Amino acid sequence: MNSPSASSSTASLVLEGVRKVFPTGDTEVVAVDDVHLEIAPGEIVALVGPSGSGKTTLCSIAGGILTPTSGRVVVAGTDISSFSAKELTGFRQQRIGFVFQSVNLVPFLTARENLLIVDELGSRRRADARRRADQLLDELGLADRAGNLPSQLSGGQRQRVAIGRALMNQPGLVLFDEPTSALDTKLGDQVMQLIHTEMKARSTAAIVDTHDERITRYADRTVHMSDGRLGSMPLAAAH
Ligand SMILES: Nc1ncnc2c1ncn2[C@@H]1O[C@H](COP(=O)(O)OP(=O)(O)OP(=O)(O)O)[C@@H](O)[C@H]1O
Ligand SMILES: [Mg+2]
Repeated sequence: MNSPSASSSTASLVLEGVRKVFPTGDTEVVAVDDVHLEIAPGEIVALVGPSGSGKTTLCSIAGGILTPTSGRVVVAGTDISSFSAKELTGFRQQRIGFVFQSVNLVPFLTARENLLIVDELGSRRRADARRRADQLLDELGLADRAGNLPSQLSGGQRQRVAIGRALMNQPGLVLFDEPTSALDTKLGDQVMQLIHTEMKARSTAAIVDTHDERITRYADRTVHMSDGRLGSMPLAAAH
């Protein structure tokens, strides 16, 4: 069970022939169609495409939030394609980080508590978790905001807390769904710079979903998505 192929054991993510069909009334929507993608440790991939092209669906499948209709999903050598919902939940908590456009911080918890909540589900000792949360907040420039509620933070600061939360369990793969769309250009650049620094420092692989072509300069590779299908831009055309 879960025996990885030679290449999938080294890659942080391998998608093979992934397809997702949503039944909607009489018809069906093919949201993701025959996607092949391999991401190396520490590699940042920008996933760019118009609204409805399937970016969020693809990230949700890569992160085990959705199961594909067909195809294989291998995360750091573990084939999660046929995991049960319960197995997926455990796998996600330990191995994958998510940062969503809407941030989704818990409004009545402080910045630090929003990081520690991840650990409630994990196995780390309380004091170790607290140390890790404070270290992350410090690295993210939020040491003096650790006790603030989300409502007492700026949009960029909230986004940074969400990044810290995604990194709490030291995942091998972090999925960012439109991480800068709620931010102005300057803050968006700062957040992308931060994502770049954090991913490279930890050799963590990332997919960054975006409408925004400017994001691509922070990525190692840009993959374009259209009508559920992927197509890579030649390097020269991407710059
Ligand atoms: N749960 C669902 N049920 C039915 N159709 C869905 C569902 N989720 C997504 N879709 C459809 O699948 C397609 C891809 O949606 P998806 O959210 O992945 O696109 P996206 O590229 O992330 O778009 P956006 O840039 O607007 O966020 C769309 O046509 C959408 O309507
Ligand atoms: Mg989306």
